[in-house]
Amino acid sequence: MPSAIVAGATGILGREIVLELSRHAQQWPTIHALSRSKKEEYASNVIHHHIDLLSSADEMAEDLKNVRGDYVFFAAYMQKDSEQENWDVNGALLSNFLEALAKTGAVQDVKRIVLVTGAKQYGVHLGTPKNPMLEDDPWLTGSEWPPNFYYNQQNILHAFCKQHNTEWVVTYPNDVIGFAVGNFMNLSITLGIYAVVSKELGQDLVFPGSPDFYTMFDSFTNSKLHAQFCAWAALDPRAANEAFNVVNGDTESWQNMWPRVASYFGMKVKPDQFAGAQPGADEKSAANAGVTSKFASYLGLGGADSSSQSSSVSLADKPPISAQASEHGLVNHPITAQAKVEQYIDLVKWSQRDDVKAAWSKVADREGLQHDAFDKATWQFLGFVLGRRYNLVQSMSKARKLGWTGYVDTWESLEGVFGELRENKILPQTE
Ligand SMILES: NC(=O)c1ccc[n+]([C@@H]2O[C@H](COP(=O)([O-])OP(=O)(O)OC[C@H]3O[C@@H](n4cnc5c(N)ncnc54)[C@H](OP(=O)(O)O)[C@@H]3O)[C@@H](O)[C@H]2O)c1
Repeated sequence: MPSAIVAGATGILGREIVLELSRHAQQWPTIHALSRSKKEEYASNVIHHHIDLLSSADEMAEDLKNVRGDYVFFAAYMQKDSEQENWDVNGALLSNFLEALAKTGAVQDVKRIVLVTGAKQYGVHLGTPKNPMLEDDPWLTGSEWPPNFYYNQQNILHAFCKQHNTEWVVTYPNDVIGFAVGNFMNLSITLGIYAVVSKELGQDLVFPGSPDFYTMFDSFTNSKLHAQFCAWAALDPRAANEAFNVVNGDTESWQNMWPRVASYFGMKVKPDQFAGAQPGADEKSAANAGVTSKFASYLGLGGADSSSQSSSVSLADKPPISAQASEHGLVNHPITAQAKVEQYIDLVKWSQRDDVKAAWSKVADREGLQHDAFDKATWQFLGFVLGRRYNLVQSMSKARKLGWTGYVDTWESLEGVFGELRENKILPQTE
């Protein structure tokens, strides 16, 4: 029976890998879960190790001396302020860890390493991608593109696996719908709090993002489905040495889900929610950011310096689609223009309003909720996710052709996470 090592065990994606493997104790009798913190109790087949992946390979080898596994899952991640720092730090997390496995000799047991990355692979943080996104789309390398730490991690992984004669898999999830204890960088938490506060203010639900994106398409990744995918991809011979999009299998839009969000919280959508929409009223340019600072990678949005409730931010000068424009006959097509993130209601500004804060305090007191959830919620991140003005469609064809059959409904995923947030006293029980 195989054993597993999961790095990033407390994260939104890593936690579910631990839970998925531990649920199948006969198949996975031993799971080594690695992270700096331990946030919850695990099943009896999970051994938790406090590990700092930023420590040197020698120090880590000492900490890992009794840790061996046939399959390694790497979902550790540190958000940094610039893309160069992301490149350096997240590259170091992975390379120090792999080097430590080599130092302890554990690498001799390793059959396959699964690395979790994401749709930034396609430059979705820079602007409009080519849709649908395919795993063999060209990497955005060269001086005209900012550093992309996923490329660094994949290069490190490929070289290590070649050197040690082991196999690899890489996953590209997008807009993750999931829950991790104590982790608030989560679109579902922020969205739920936005709805709860709007209701407390006596308002109908208004989509705060781009009126254009409201009717466009996005692909989401349920963290539980992603974990099932990782287990499949670790074991299936056909998945060896391949990178895969991992999204739910449906393609969703907010025009479809927003009324369901409203209904879940006992609200209705404001029928003319975009009346008078002028997202361009607070134009800012993030072009020079090279899409860098924390969430200025996501993307320097908002700012409370304007009386307007809206905001508009320009992304990188060239969107990712421009790299393939010639091949796809799109030279000079409007889709190759610099993309924008527009928020009808800028969520950072909204979250700083006194009436909004007071409404959260009131509902949190009344319902016994975690008070700090509001301050920890990632308003910039959600503003970016809802404010993009381009489709984000990831094809699942490659995995399906190789035998993957997993699928979940995106709305049901979101509803499920809202339920977990209620259980964890982040969202109220009452409707
Ligand atoms: N969340 C999303 O919406 C999303 C979407 C697409 C792609 N992704 C990608 O998926 C990957 C995983 O991200 P995530 O969102 O699951 O991350 P996350 O929730 O922030 O979790 C990060 C994990 O890494 C661990 N970690 C961080 N620094 C560490 C260190 N120095 N030593 C040991 N462990 C450390 C954390 O545990 P401790 O803090 O306890 O150490 C935690 O378990 C990343 O590449 C991310 O870009 C995420």
